[in-house]
Amino acid sequence: MGDMATIRNIVILTGAGISAESGLRTFRAEDGLWEDHPVEEVATPQGFARDPELVQRFYDERRTGVLAALPNPAHDALARLDRDWDGGLLIVTQNIDDLHERAGASRVLHMHGEALSVWCTACDARHRWEGSLLDGPACPACGAVSMRPDIVWFGEMPYRMEEIFAALADADLFVSIGTSGAVYPAAGFVQQAASHGAHTIELNLERSQGSAFFDESRLGLASELVPAWVAEVLGR
Ligand code: APR
Repeated sequence: MGDMATIRNIVILTGAGISAESGLRTFRAEDGLWEDHPVEEVATPQGFARDPELVQRFYDERRTGVLAALPNPAHDALARLDRDWDGGLLIVTQNIDDLHERAGASRVLHMHGEALSVWCTACDARHRWEGSLLDGPACPACGAVSMRPDIVWFGEMPYRMEEIFAALADADLFVSIGTSGAVYPAAGFVQQAASHGAHTIELNLERSQGSAFFDESRLGLASELVPAWVAEVLGR
């Protein structure tokens, strides 16, 4: 770990692996979500246009799963860091669950959208939504039956990229947790941060596609690695 005295601004990137121990499936393991739901069918605008019911059902299932899941010690540790770290902190998550927030973190940015948010394509309003979209509810703002999951699908632009790049430019420490490094632009953040002089650490169950870009790679369960790392950063 770099000299802690010089660490002011931290950027953390999380992926499905941080929520695996909360019972939410990851994407690319042998039992991964993409094994029985081809990405093209359920996570692209083309798939939605081709079979909206299939896609609405897929995200209805995600929404139900998120509501039933609980934060695990890794989420709790990042919430503690958010509370106790007086420097800059941004938790950029690729995850669509709200477990970071339910653990108590507030400096969270969902670059791929959120399972519990829906987007009306008629009036552009976004609503918190815990129920189903399969039965075609009307948009609370404009009344149109035109709400889709507020999820960034493949081929769509991730949210708030300017904010993310600005944070990476100022980062002294970049930590990637529970992501395979398979999907850009998130997979390129480590190189972005390193190019601005940040120290980079990967906390993951196994070596990822981006492991070679990190100064440090710690392998193990997020529920063990993250609390230990947060204790290190907070000096206790
Ligand atoms: N602790 C730590 N890491 C874990 C754990 C765990 N308990 N369980 C799994 N992992 C690791 C896996 O080793 C893998 O490297 O988490 C990573 C999960 O990788 P993916 O399933 O590819 O998920 P993710 O990296 O978040 O995918 C990125 O791809 O499909 C799109 O939009 C989707 O946001 C997603 C993006």
